[in-house]
Amino acid sequence: MPSKVPDDDGGYSSYRSTPAPGISFFTPQQTLPCGTAILDEENGITEDTISPVFKPLKIRNTVFQNRIFLAPMCLYSCKDGMLSDFHVAHYGQYAIRGVPLITIEATAVVPWGLNTPQDSGLWSDEQIPPLKRVVDVIHSQSQHAAIQLQHAGRKSGVTPPWLGLKTVPEEYGGCGATVKGPSPNPWNENYSTPKEMTEAEIWEVIEAFGAAAARAVKAGIKIIAVHGAHGYLIHSFASPASNKRTDKWGGSFENRVRFGIEIIRCIRRNIPADCLLFWKISAVDWLPPGEGWELEDTIRYAPILHKEGVDFLDVSSGGNDRNQKVQISPAYQVPFAEAVKKSTPGLVVGAVGWIRDGKTVEEILRSGKADAISIAREFLRDPNFVHRVANEVGTKVSWVDQYHRAPIYGKNVESTTSITADIKVDSGVTQSHEKQLQNKVA
Ligand SMILES: Cc1cc2nc3c(=O)[nH]c(=O)nc-3n(C[C@H](O)[C@H](O)[C@H](O)COP(=O)(O)O)c2cc1C
Repeated sequence: MPSKVPDDDGGYSSYRSTPAPGISFFTPQQTLPCGTAILDEENGITEDTISPVFKPLKIRNTVFQNRIFLAPMCLYSCKDGMLSDFHVAHYGQYAIRGVPLITIEATAVVPWGLNTPQDSGLWSDEQIPPLKRVVDVIHSQSQHAAIQLQHAGRKSGVTPPWLGLKTVPEEYGGCGATVKGPSPNPWNENYSTPKEMTEAEIWEVIEAFGAAAARAVKAGIKIIAVHGAHGYLIHSFASPASNKRTDKWGGSFENRVRFGIEIIRCIRRNIPADCLLFWKISAVDWLPPGEGWELEDTIRYAPILHKEGVDFLDVSSGGNDRNQKVQISPAYQVPFAEAVKKSTPGLVVGAVGWIRDGKTVEEILRSGKADAISIAREFLRDPNFVHRVANEVGTKVSWVDQYHRAPIYGKNVESTTSITADIKVDSGVTQSHEKQLQNKVA
């Protein structure tokens, strides 16, 4: 092996693949991100004729090659808030399976905002390098990484769901004494009774969101997501069911949403202007009329969020009150997304919740009820969901180069050892790199 080969500068040649740029390890650059529709204009396959699922989505200057996003999911697997090799493996699997946006789980901006002691955190510079490892893997595959920043509020300091969501004693890393929220009412009897946050603590958390966003940018992230849903701190400030304050942070609609708005402003001050800001909202509390946050509030809030700098609103529901009566059924939250989309032109809207198959994904997008679909549990069941959907809706999409002999459409090769160089080029069994660059099936 010569010490220096002619194309060591990284240029593509017939002999070696271009390295993914800006990544500390070698991996071939995926010029066409995995999960991109393969167009064939001569045969009438264009962006206008393919399924809307695979029509690229552009938000400001960022292009997503398809519209199936990985929803943020807590994995409860960190020590001291640090991501690990486990997270590299977990998030990496989606990067090589064609998921254009991979949102890293709810990540606490202060230690007393951890939902469980083993959640992800970004309150310290020490947490940047392990996050960067995960981000680099995602970017190495030409996919986009986001991180969801959060404070769990009165839901802080409990065990992971599989251990029963019970309060963790302080000697086991719980934060019973420091659990805080807008008002001193607990989520339920398993959770600590929160202390009412002081004005200083409110500003400490707002600033912590900004500081965590700045750290995320240092880790290479260009899309900041915020957890404004599911009864965590931001949602519990917004909803009259949980916010009983009488100062400027409670009472009227304007006062209750002030906390969220100040968080957006602080994040925007701390990130470059071209970074995207995503927000997740619970569209309703599922409480009787007049008792909680309602769809009318969401419709009133969405344009404010947009004006303040939110680019994308993921529309979920519930999680703020133990008396909620969630009416659950397939795609049950889609009508909320549709209502937001209709009422807030210009805001890009995501639908989430009990969406499990390609036909449903396609119908939501084709009918214009949402611009993108966030998937959580179906991605846990099937990390190859993007390719499954592609097959269901009849769109051919790219695979990572390393998996180029596996696509589930087109010709299958019975024996991988029978391929010779000649057959490979001539038979259309595989996609050659050049054809892939031209966005065409070989
Ligand atoms: C294991 C697990 C962890 C979750 N953690 C988060 C989280 O960190 N942030 C969040 O916004 N939602 C979280 N969720 C909710 C999902 O993002 C999603 O809104 C919900 O599961 C409904 O989508 P699905 O029917 O596709 O699972 C979590 C869901 C699951 C199953």
